[in-house]
Amino acid sequence: MNILFAASEAVPYAASGGLGDVVGSLPKAIAEKGHSCAVVIPLYKSISAEMREDMDFVASITVDVSWRKQYCGIFKAKRNGIVYYFIDNEYYFDREGMYGFYDDCERFVFFGRAVLEMLKYIGFMPDIISCNDWQTALIPVYYNLYYRYQQGYDKLKTAFTIHNIEYQGRYGREVLGEVMGIPPYNAGLLEYDGYINMLKGAIETADRIITVSPQYAKELLDPWYAHGLDRILITKRDKMTGILNGIDVNMYNPETDSAISCNYSKGDTSGKAICKKTLLNELGLSDGDEPVIGIVTRFVGHKGIDLIRCVFEQIVAKGMKFAVLGSGERIYEEFFIEMSRRYPDKVSVTTEFNPVLARKIYAGADMFLMPSMSEPCGLAQLIAMRYGTIPIVRETGGLKDTVRDNGGIDGNGFTFQTYNADDMFDAVRRAKLDYDNGEKWNELVKRAMLCDFSWKSSAEDYIDMFEKMLNS
Ligand code: GLC
Repeated sequence: MNILFAASEAVPYAASGGLGDVVGSLPKAIAEKGHSCAVVIPLYKSISAEMREDMDFVASITVDVSWRKQYCGIFKAKRNGIVYYFIDNEYYFDREGMYGFYDDCERFVFFGRAVLEMLKYIGFMPDIISCNDWQTALIPVYYNLYYRYQQGYDKLKTAFTIHNIEYQGRYGREVLGEVMGIPPYNAGLLEYDGYINMLKGAIETADRIITVSPQYAKELLDPWYAHGLDRILITKRDKMTGILNGIDVNMYNPETDSAISCNYSKGDTSGKAICKKTLLNELGLSDGDEPVIGIVTRFVGHKGIDLIRCVFEQIVAKGMKFAVLGSGERIYEEFFIEMSRRYPDKVSVTTEFNPVLARKIYAGADMFLMPSMSEPCGLAQLIAMRYGTIPIVRETGGLKDTVRDNGGIDGNGFTFQTYNADDMFDAVRRAKLDYDNGEKWNELVKRAMLCDFSWKSSAEDYIDMFEKMLNS
């Protein structure tokens, strides 16, 4: 099969979160099983000159954005057996940052249209376009409206993956004609609750909808999780599948990771203690045996930081330390900064996007706290376990699918059910109890490291699903 992954992020070119990791690793895993995979993303300003040097110019074309005719350059580069295409337009993408502009709708309308248009020029016709999140949601819509009957396009199928339902690409009705160039008689494809909703358009028109964990696929039918889209998803549930994300286990490997101070393996975890010592020193925290809780996250509401705020000082009072890395909403940044001032030798916070420090925390912490209100899949808990750091999570989405409570026989972490700070505190307390019983803890660490979170089986699931789509 030929598969094209369209997304707004892909490691190593551009990433702000888990989406970039997945688009950076899943195509490789599918290609290893004998399929041709390509990826297309915008050519952002932040893509370095060094990376641009490896790119070849493919074509320059014109793309319709409603009545506008926009320049679109197509570049390509090859990396690890995958061809990456880049959509260039300086007006839309030569800016600081990837999202958050007043014209994001227009920018990604352009991108979606450009992806379909470029297929005429690149000598690679996919059987499947795998679209990811709202930025690519117009691809299945435009395909159904304008490309399905064009020469060469007739056999193409579209899959749409929801990485997070919270971000929908929701705009006023005026964008339909003025930005998308879609006539009023097709408005029904995108209209939802009085808005034009790009995600709804993809849910309506894609051949298949994927979510990034089986549990999240169930949760999305529940209004508590679905941010308004449960009503449409219930009617489309027959074409929905949940497939768990994997991680790139070569990139995240405590045996070879050069970012950490001492490599270790599940057979010999002794290096982990050295990583902990180095982390404490580097962050200016006091040395000692007390458990260190790592937090690496975006500071946004659904990550459950409100629960952490409620009982933070109680946890510190139990003798635990915190290594926090993240950025986002100011209220949360300020909270952690205040805590690090109050407990300078026990709490450290770094408010930036710092992948190297992230790895040091994954390796050097003892526990990893992720009490998300909702979590489509979550990659951090998988990486933490790969490094033998025990996750403490709320049972939601991918966290529920990947972490089992240590109260049972085959636990690999600690879990709690209700979105409630006391319940979270109880899980932390239980983790501390097991930590204090050294032998039990070592077994738990080994069990977590034995879990296989590679793409191996999920890549098979994707391939099976794509093959079924082509045969239907
Ligand atoms: C989003 C979700 C996260 C998921 C990631 C990759 O960032 O919030 O749970 O792991 O996408 O699919």
